[in-house]
Amino acid sequence: MPISQRTQVGIVGAGPAGLVLSHLLHLQGIDSVVIENRSREYSEQRVRAGVLEQGTVDLLTEMGGGERMKKEGLVHYGIELRFGGKGHRIDFQELTGGKGITIYAQHEVLKDLNNARSAAGGQTIFEAENVSVHNLNTSHPKIRYEKDGGAHEVICDFIAGCDGFHGICRPSIPPGVIVEYEREYPFGWLGILAQAPPSSEELIYTYHDRGFALLSMRSPQISRLYLQCAPDENIDDWSDERIWQELQIRLSSPGWALTEGAILQKGVTGMRSFVAEPMQYGRLFLAGDSAHIVPPTGAKGLNLAVADVRVLARALAHFYSTGSQSLLDEYSAKCLRRVWKVQRFSWWMTSMLHRFPDENPFDQRRQLAELDYVTSSRAAAKSLAENYVGLPLE
Ligand code: FAD
Ligand code: DHB
Repeated sequence: MPISQRTQVGIVGAGPAGLVLSHLLHLQGIDSVVIENRSREYSEQRVRAGVLEQGTVDLLTEMGGGERMKKEGLVHYGIELRFGGKGHRIDFQELTGGKGITIYAQHEVLKDLNNARSAAGGQTIFEAENVSVHNLNTSHPKIRYEKDGGAHEVICDFIAGCDGFHGICRPSIPPGVIVEYEREYPFGWLGILAQAPPSSEELIYTYHDRGFALLSMRSPQISRLYLQCAPDENIDDWSDERIWQELQIRLSSPGWALTEGAILQKGVTGMRSFVAEPMQYGRLFLAGDSAHIVPPTGAKGLNLAVADVRVLARALAHFYSTGSQSLLDEYSAKCLRRVWKVQRFSWWMTSMLHRFPDENPFDQRRQLAELDYVTSSRAAAKSLAENYVGLPLE
């Protein structure tokens, strides 16, 4: 017999979606247990996203535990779009009425959230094996897992599937319930973390004949840089010297220099757009990457995950305070409105800035015209800025 425990909301996955949800529920007096298959150390070191929208920063701050982010996060009020070797600034502050973004690494967000959960006596079970979800269409769904050789089950009122794109929650929904919309891109990103002071105060998104490049950062000492590459690029083919050489070519601009430094970490990320509709089956609610993926151009993945769980936490709080399922019934449709707008933006930024293997000279001219338009028309720049800093939260 498994060791059994009871909670109100069982959460699968201790990524940004799972941990923010767990803490938001706690603040509303709702009990949850988070089940995660990796170790805490692994998730607190894994290099992923770095750009937080204003709404994400505000939510993390309101939740408490945002002090380090306020201190160490870098607030930016614009980005540069670089093409034809020339830079063009998109001024977020002026175009959005004072909004900006904060550079603060995803794994630092996770450290802060794990600390906040521990301080509040929250229960996160790391290194759970063979996690599975059951009885989704009943009022008492359950999560099963194994830990240290023992079998466990968590009986819940609701389950939140916050277990990312490769998790088990979405595939546990019976066939025919969900429609999946998907697009794969014929390229990936080669990303590095380098011990080098960022060569620009703000991010630089570059369109170049040889492919896209992005200059970002993590701190005044650490740069984060990306290069468009083949989707199946072998990282072993990229010596540190070759990476810097390619970055120097793609980012070059008269009177500007890219500072190099020791490469601390490197890896290749594939790119896809994906949406599962609806984001609910019975008492299982999908949130974050388990329900949708965006290509990274525009840095929306983490922010979208946080926006989902904000809606879910409110709907669950409404259920526990009134007994009404009405907000839970609206959860999927409400999230999907934002999800599709963010899909559109991420696809648009990706299409504008990358070289496509099957493109013809017309496509390339059109991309350059798009870049010219977005950097010379206030209306177009305003649309980019509004989406980049984050569409308003409901
Ligand atoms: P995740 O962060 O994926 O969290 C899911 C959690 O569930 C993980 O901790 C996972 O270990 C756990 N899990 C999975 N399966 C199980 C299981 N069976 N049982 C229990 N737990 C399970 N976004 C950007 O905006 N900018 C970027 O630069 C960027 N870079 C990225 C680089 C990489 C390599 C990847 C993979 C993603 C990147 N993203 C980026 C996307 C962004 O990191 C995600 O959108 C964000 O992490 C989504 O949060 P989440 O909580 O929904 O999912
Ligand atoms: C970063 C990632 C992105 O996808 C992006 O558009 C901007 C910055 C980053 O990791 O810093």
